[in-house]
Amino acid sequence: MTQRILLGILLLALSGCTPETKPKVHRLVSTKRAIYDAFVYVNRIPEKPEEGETAEDIAGRIFGRLANQEGRVLLKLPAGMDRASYLAFKTFFRYEGEKQVGNCAACHSPAEFADSKTHVVARGAKAMPTPSLRNLDLTSKELGKVILGKIAASNLKRAGEADEIDDAYSAIRLDKEDVPGLVTYLGLLNDVPDESFRDLILEATVLDTTGDLEDQ
Ligand code: HEC
Repeated sequence: MTQRILLGILLLALSGCTPETKPKVHRLVSTKRAIYDAFVYVNRIPEKPEEGETAEDIAGRIFGRLANQEGRVLLKLPAGMDRASYLAFKTFFRYEGEKQVGNCAACHSPAEFADSKTHVVARGAKAMPTPSLRNLDLTSKELGKVILGKIAASNLKRAGEADEIDDAYSAIRLDKEDVPGLVTYLGLLNDVPDESFRDLILEATVLDTTGDLEDQ
C-alpha cells in the first residue's frame, strides 16, 4: 500500500505535473531565469556557442532558427516581450547589414553576455573586460547613455579617428532610434522569481510574422 503511494508520487514527480491539469513545462536544465531565457526556451534557440564556435557562427545559427520559426508562424513571445523587444533582440545579435546592426554579441556573447576578454571600446581608453549584461544595476537612462556612447565610438572607429577601438565596433550600424529598443532588450536579461518564470513560459503567445518582419 505505502509502496504504491510512493510509486505514484515518484511518477508524478518524474512527469513534472500535478494530477490536475497544469500544462507541463519540461525539465528546465538551465538555472537562468530571465525573460530572455523564457524566449530562448519556448523557441528552442541556441543558448550558447558550441565548442570552438565563433560569435558570428552562433549568431548565424540563432538567425537561422528565428527565420524557421517566423516562416512557420511559430515564433512565441513569453509574457513581457513584445514585437518591439523581439526586433531589438535581432538588432543586438545582427552582425552585418546597413541598419539595426548592434553586433553586441561579438563581445557580449550568450549565455552570460560576456566573453572573458578585454577590449578597447572608447577613444584613447585602455582595454577593459567585457562585463556580463545579466542583472545590470543601471537605470534605463544610464543604459541609454552607454549605448549612445557605443554608437559615437563606432562612428569614430569607422571614420578612422580611433583605430585603437576594437574592430567589432566597425560593424555596428545604429542610430538613436535604436536605443530605446536595446534598453528594453537589456531589461529582458534580468532574472525573475522561479514561479513567474514558469508563467512566462506557459503564457507565451505566437507573434504574427506573416507581415513585414523579414527586412527588419
Ligand atoms: C568590442 C566588444 C564590445 C562590443 C561589440 C559591445 N560591447 Fe558593450 N562593453 C564592452 C566592454 C569592454 C565594456 C566595458 C567598458 C568599460 O568598462 O569601460 C562594455 C560595457 C557595456 C555596458 C555597461 C555594462 C556595465 O556593467 O556598466 C553595456 C550596457 C553594454 N556594454 C552593452 C552593449 C550593447 C547593447 C552593445 C551593442 C550595441 C555592445 N555593448 C557592444 C565590450 C563590447
